[in-house]
Amino acid sequence: MLPEIDSYLSANAARFEDELCELLRIPSVSADSTRKGEVRRAAEWVAAQFRGLGLEVELCETAGHPIVFAEAKADPSKPTVLVYGHYDVQPPDPLDLWTTPPFEPTRRDGNIVARGATDDKGQMFTHVKSAEAWLKGTKGKLPVNLKFLIEGEEEVGSAHLDQFIEANKTKLKADVVVISDTSQFGPGRPAITYGLRGIAYYELKLQGPSRDLHSGTFGGGVMNPANALARVLATIIDERGRIQVPGFYDDVQPLTDLERQQFAALPFDEAQFMKAIGLTAVAGEEGFTTLERRWARPTFDINGLTSGYQGEGAKTVLPAKASAKFSFRLVPKQDPEKIRVALEAHLRRVLPSGVTMELTAFHGAPGVVVPLESPFVAAAVTAVESGFGRKPVFIREGGSIPVVSTFHELLGLDTLLLGWGLDDDNTHSPNEKFCLADFHRGIKASAYLWHEIGKKF
Ligand code: BES
Ligand code: ZN
Repeated sequence: MLPEIDSYLSANAARFEDELCELLRIPSVSADSTRKGEVRRAAEWVAAQFRGLGLEVELCETAGHPIVFAEAKADPSKPTVLVYGHYDVQPPDPLDLWTTPPFEPTRRDGNIVARGATDDKGQMFTHVKSAEAWLKGTKGKLPVNLKFLIEGEEEVGSAHLDQFIEANKTKLKADVVVISDTSQFGPGRPAITYGLRGIAYYELKLQGPSRDLHSGTFGGGVMNPANALARVLATIIDERGRIQVPGFYDDVQPLTDLERQQFAALPFDEAQFMKAIGLTAVAGEEGFTTLERRWARPTFDINGLTSGYQGEGAKTVLPAKASAKFSFRLVPKQDPEKIRVALEAHLRRVLPSGVTMELTAFHGAPGVVVPLESPFVAAAVTAVESGFGRKPVFIREGGSIPVVSTFHELLGLDTLLLGWGLDDDNTHSPNEKFCLADFHRGIKASAYLWHEIGKKF
């Protein structure tokens, strides 16, 4: 249907992969302060891509990692699409579980394997290459105006992004946002994601005696902070998977019957789901299916536990300190700040005497659902079908992209979440991958999306 685009994409497919590999070689781990220079190098690499396409580009400094902003003006009468993505990646640890090194991208079984392959360098890059296809492969005109906002702090909670958006409302003015940082429903089942969960992340530190003690001499007469931590954490969720913090569910909207039916109609294979991640049983909140639990119900998960002796063999120590990192995934309407207040009050109430506590709140973001009745969604359905050869299904997902709610609140914009990844891409774990065929399908879907959106207005 767009022969010039199609032939440009096939003629340049191998180079697109090579360029993605260049970006994947830059270890832009935003959480690691020793990688600050590498994070900047990734930002500069992305900026250079845009410059190469003749876009107006700015590398915007923040108190953290820089933001890349680029703009391709086509025609003021056409809609403007704001593409968001992130060039930062998660830490690669544990390194010994990678088959090939995380920052040496390797093609294996039709995938590109590297940290950031799918989350989000590979997915983000599909929109850069689709812009290139229009600018270089046709008579040089994009069918829409494009703005790109590519940040370097998504994996650490986008701390400086809201401020940037607040300060640059005019610059970021657009009609719709497009983000590819989610997944398909399954292999060969493209999806449009209309809901994401939010997050509220904490660290709880308990302090007991002023120093580590002999557990024989002192045990029994002293509150052990590790015991206290286990007790306190166990009060947060009951055996039916219900969170016990008073007020936690106050703003949770029940799932509608229609939505439950729609989830149930998706071809979700629970046995396959268990097999893929080595489970013997699924678990979660009583009364809900696995998809409901993962996509549309709030959860509590401990993300890290630290206390006492972790070395080889046994050590009879009564540790002076214990700490935990944990988070709630939130659903729309739950307010992270309200949750923090409720949590802190709950923890103070259940804290055993003999230990003191300190609660730190890290990133928080509300959950989102985006409306499906819009011409942009209709355009996306057609474009995804053009790229992937199959109509997308509508899904929600359990992960979080904090900026989606910010775009809505500060710019009044809805987001199209068009994910080209797969649930088994190993995001945030060893051997992250991105299916190369999906990379190219994503580029094609994106190129067709500009066409479909341009056509509608
Ligand atoms: N790409 C993910 C978001 C995602 C994950 C969407 C799974 C859909 C399904 C993103 O890069 C991410 O990992 N976000 C963090 C946000 C947090 C650090 C504030 C997350 O969800 O943990
Ligand atoms: Zn991501």
